Amino acid sequence: MLRKIAITAASVLALAGSGAFAAETAHIEDVAFSFEGPFGKFDEHQLQRGLQVYTEVCSACHGMKFVPIRSLADEGGPRLPEDQVRAFAKQFTAIDKETGEEREAKETDNFPANNDAGAPDLSLMAKARAGFHGPYGTGINQFFKGIGGPEYIHAILTDYTEETKDEAGSTFYENHAFSTGWIAMPPPLSDDLVTYQDGTPATVDQMSMDVSAFLMWAAEPQMMARKKAGFVAVLFLGLLTVLLYLTNKRLWAPHKGKQSA
Ligand code: HEC
Repeated sequence: MLRKIAITAASVLALAGSGAFAAETAHIEDVAFSFEGPFGKFDEHQLQRGLQVYTEVCSACHGMKFVPIRSLADEGGPRLPEDQVRAFAKQFTAIDKETGEEREAKETDNFPANNDAGAPDLSLMAKARAGFHGPYGTGINQFFKGIGGPEYIHAILTDYTEETKDEAGSTFYENHAFSTGWIAMPPPLSDDLVTYQDGTPATVDQMSMDVSAFLMWAAEPQMMARKKAGFVAVLFLGLLTVLLYLTNKRLWAPHKGKQSA
């Protein structure tokens, strides 16, 4: 038994040393998002800024086909007024399910898909990637810092070097957050690329945080409801524990201190 454990431990260490967990070496910076922790909430204004970055920048190459446009008005989301959501939908086109023809999108449609540039759909990206791993493949870090999906997106957008290389007719951009170190996405952001209506300075870092928060909401729009339900459940279980403890005490009280017959 001991020998087995020793062999396992040795091989895990050997694997770690040999770079089998190389992805762990990419340093992903932890960002203190407002929605983290048991009482965290999405910041409505940040989501609105992120929506603006997504629409004006990312949507040129990426789609978000699983996210209904009408959810922009939902509680816990960007909370756009209904008339703004309707106006927002009009800039996109959709294929009508009945006629099969292209028409102006409505709030009942989803965000458009977009495969033109070979860019992955961003609907669930914030939950499909992990920023934090380890140590040694155990995932304990995620217990403390969270999975790190939005942190990963923030890092992808901010960790470009100026280096590029051409391979098989495509250009790749050096990016330390990306698993292979070279990504096919050109750096999408530069300072003041968008103009925020609330006057927030549009630095690359700010835009990255805003769009990452927005994509987290897109991937898990019911996060606030989930946290609330979790809190109520924990409260309830706590109460139940106290009641069961007292019941137990009471049931056994007559038998305590007696000699068994
Ligand atoms: C010029 C087109 C273009 C724009 C604009 C663009 N992307 Fe990308 N993006 C790509 C391509 C192409 C890939 C696939 C890269 C690869 O796999 O090497 C990609 C990949 C990604 C990935 C996935 C990385 C991974 O782990 O697979 C994320 C996240 C991402 N983009 C986020 C964004 C965000 C957020 C924006 C807006 C701020 C944006 N992109 C704007 C083209 C673009």
